Amino acid sequence: MQFETRLWSFTQGVRGRIAISVLIGMIAAALGVIRLALLGWLIGLIFLGQSVDELVMPIIFAALVMLIRGIFEHWRTMTAHETSAIVQKQLRRRLFDKIVSLGPGYTGRQRSGELVLTLVDGIEQLETYFGEYLPQLFISALTPLMIFAFVAFLDFPVALILLVAAFVALAAPSAWHKFDTKRSLERQQAYAAFASDFLDGIQGLATLKSFGQSGSRTELLKKRSFELFRSTMWVLATNSLSRGITDTSIAVGAAAGLGYGAYRTMAGEMELTTLLIILMMGVEIFRPLRDLRTVLHQGMVGLSAAQGVYKILDAQPVVLEEHSGNSTTRLEPSIDFDSVSFSYPEHSHIVHKCLNFNISKGERVGIVGSSGCGKSSIVKLLLRFHDPGQGSISIGGKDLRNITLDQLRREISVVHQDTFLFHGTIEENIRMGNPEASETEITDAARNANIHEFVTTLPDRYKTIIGEKGIKLSGGQRQRIAIARAVLKRYANFNFR
Ligand SMILES: Nc1ncnc2c1ncn2[C@@H]1O[C@H](COP(=O)(O)OP(=O)(O)OP(=O)(O)O)[C@@H](O)[C@H]1O
Ligand SMILES: [Mg+2]
Repeated sequence: MQFETRLWSFTQGVRGRIAISVLIGMIAAALGVIRLALLGWLIGLIFLGQSVDELVMPIIFAALVMLIRGIFEHWRTMTAHETSAIVQKQLRRRLFDKIVSLGPGYTGRQRSGELVLTLVDGIEQLETYFGEYLPQLFISALTPLMIFAFVAFLDFPVALILLVAAFVALAAPSAWHKFDTKRSLERQQAYAAFASDFLDGIQGLATLKSFGQSGSRTELLKKRSFELFRSTMWVLATNSLSRGITDTSIAVGAAAGLGYGAYRTMAGEMELTTLLIILMMGVEIFRPLRDLRTVLHQGMVGLSAAQGVYKILDAQPVVLEEHSGNSTTRLEPSIDFDSVSFSYPEHSHIVHKCLNFNISKGERVGIVGSSGCGKSSIVKLLLRFHDPGQGSISIGGKDLRNITLDQLRREISVVHQDTFLFHGTIEENIRMGNPEASETEITDAARNANIHEFVTTLPDRYKTIIGEKGIKLSGGQRQRIAIARAVLKRYANFNFR
């Protein structure tokens, strides 16, 4: 029995659905008990030498109960899938919002493969946990009680033996929980390392090929996949141990209950029909536990994936937004760096020490310097992807810390060194500068960036798709589209034309 209170907290809003799943499962289990009680009774009647005519009704009853049970099982499965789909959707949204709020200062320090793994694969792996494992856990805890109540009517001591065995089977594996969690964490780390290096390999395929390094990359991936295999086997091994405990408890419990029942029948303290009914129900009392066992592995894999989710949710933003509100007043376009000192988080290298400069409205300033001297870092500080360790930066005389991140970033246009264009049309990429821009504004921005002429030569013009299935652009063309995007943003804010 592994129950994580933190994962449970993600089920807010769907707990009613989980309760319904449990209820449906309990009804299905009750129908299973009735079915087996009917079968036990039927066999008892056969032993007592009843005629075929008298057996027709019990047979019809048993068949009907089996059919209804099938319908409930189907309903349970459908509810399970819907429930997990809702939790997964909410979780994806929460993670995405968190990553956006953490900003590039955080994502820049993470490996893309690991982030993608958590956001896509990790959430997928939680499906079984929320949809099947959790409801099954409750069902496994409640069903033995229900069956105990039923069997206790027939024979109290046997009911007690079965109940104790069911709870031992349910609770004993939790003794291994710490061990399980450690193994899950190791597997998650191994998976993240594999995914990150794999993504690196795909993205850098051209480089690997041109430098003849695909072989060494293959070796690295081989090592990573072996680590993943080994940690997965450990997770499986600890699961098998839990399964072993569950199975043993089930087997010993059933044997003890039935052995004692048989003894009591021999001693004339219990009827044969009662023993047969208990024999049949012995199967059902442990069924939820066996069902739980079948989803246990996926539940554990889900728990391991959850470690990646926690890592993102627990991350602290590199910059804190202390200032709230939504000011629409424009800032005076002047920049002041006052005794700014800055190092990247977790790096001792000082990028800027006591940097002072100011740029007034209307001034055009170029900053030049050797590679790595900190030019791009100035832009990152200006956009507040990071805060300076000492000193202050202001725009229009206002300290950046007293401006909301939204307002600050609305006022600044950037063409990054490494141009990033999204998969989509040229127009969509330029429009990111100002989603409300008219077509004329977009073409004007493109003219300013000296890309309009080129776009008009394309068959689909501004509707041309960039990316895998679309047009391949040269580095310069990509750069100019990025300039058009920046121009459009500035055009809208400052009316600079
Ligand atoms: N995300 C980061 N984390 C840690 N250190 C960084 C990070 N980005 C840059 N640096 C370091 O900060 C210093 C300044 O980098 P920056 O990118 O600002 O240089 P630059 O002047 O723009 O160089 P270039 O002309 O090559 O673009 C360099 O020593 C670089 O190694
Ligand atoms: Mg740079």
